[in-house]
Amino acid sequence: MRVNGKHYRSIWVKEDDDRVIRVIDQRFLPHRFVIEDLRTSGEVITAISDMHVRGAGLIGAAAGYGMYLAALEAPQDGSFDRFMADAARRLKAARPTAVNLSWAVDRQLRALEYGKTAAGKISVAFETAREIASIDIDTCRRIGEYGLKIIEEMSRKKGGKTVNILTHCNAGWLAMVDYGTATAPVYAAFEKGVDVHVWVDETRPRNQGAALTAWELEQQGVPCTIIADNAGGHLMQHGMVDMVIVGTDRTTIAGDVANKIGTYLKALAARDNNIPFYVALPSSSIDWEIEEGLSEIPIEERDGDEVRYIEGLCDGEIKRVLLTPEGSRASNYGFDVTPARLVTALITERGVCKAGRKEILSLFPEREKIGPPPATDKTRGSDE
Ligand code: MRU
Repeated sequence: MRVNGKHYRSIWVKEDDDRVIRVIDQRFLPHRFVIEDLRTSGEVITAISDMHVRGAGLIGAAAGYGMYLAALEAPQDGSFDRFMADAARRLKAARPTAVNLSWAVDRQLRALEYGKTAAGKISVAFETAREIASIDIDTCRRIGEYGLKIIEEMSRKKGGKTVNILTHCNAGWLAMVDYGTATAPVYAAFEKGVDVHVWVDETRPRNQGAALTAWELEQQGVPCTIIADNAGGHLMQHGMVDMVIVGTDRTTIAGDVANKIGTYLKALAARDNNIPFYVALPSSSIDWEIEEGLSEIPIEERDGDEVRYIEGLCDGEIKRVLLTPEGSRASNYGFDVTPARLVTALITERGVCKAGRKEILSLFPEREKIGPPPATDKTRGSDE
């Protein structure tokens, strides 16, 4: 998407040096546009765990490139595969909730089996990393096409009046490689001239909505308004929201949706007000091995300082200030799970379906034969 009129992706290979991966360091947005160079798998792990890059798809794409950088670092002898297995384990542990991370790392591990020599494996890892990024772009574009139909239908129903869409956190192009998930239908509708407006939840504690979603929508010229996290219910009660579209970090095969903390409350309010609640997601965000979101999706807990402090621009500098009594305890759950029953539909790269096992599998029939997870596999993708 565009930044000051220039096209960017959230991650790319440096033009004149393919041993360097470039990302937008999202910690500084919206106040400073900083590009970071990542040269080692360790730097990729830090970038993921400290949230220079964040959002399910981008975490996956970064991990894909992290495996490529690990291949460049690996000893060129018989211990290559062992080194890569260890890199895979460390990358997977960088953040626990978004399943795209293990999706990308596992894809790399499978691809590496086809490399015959260390040099061959490096080139396989490079191609696979690029493929992971381009799958992400392509799936988001398709999600946009399917979601567009839903927005157009709403616009028709409203006789062309503004379609008001509420979103939570950042499931925009910054969270993926391009287009975004929740934002892809919005961008497609805006491009087609549909009158859209987005209510952007600020998304405490890290403010991905206020800092990132608002910034990226404004960069594309899409009308949007930032609201306090608690405002959504009120807007819904007063007919000011036509639909909710959010992303997800992990959705179970039965349609339970883990997304940024606070999503569940929006789904409850939407249900109470008869407002459709959509989840836009690539199939790489579906965890095919688990059914029950509440008990089986690992929920990241982050440092309480993210709740105690807030960051922003002050006298031209980015500053961090304490919000709470000094020494207060704070807890910081990063995600919550919205049960499938509260989700109107999933918008995927293969079409729109109900959030349910049968409906998901009807779009992705090749997954049918994989079958249920082994009973012991409860910690996959977690920090442990
Ligand atoms: O903690 P983050 O910023 O990595 O959280 C990810 C998110 O932005 C969301 O939960 C998002 O809505 C889904 S990612 C496409």
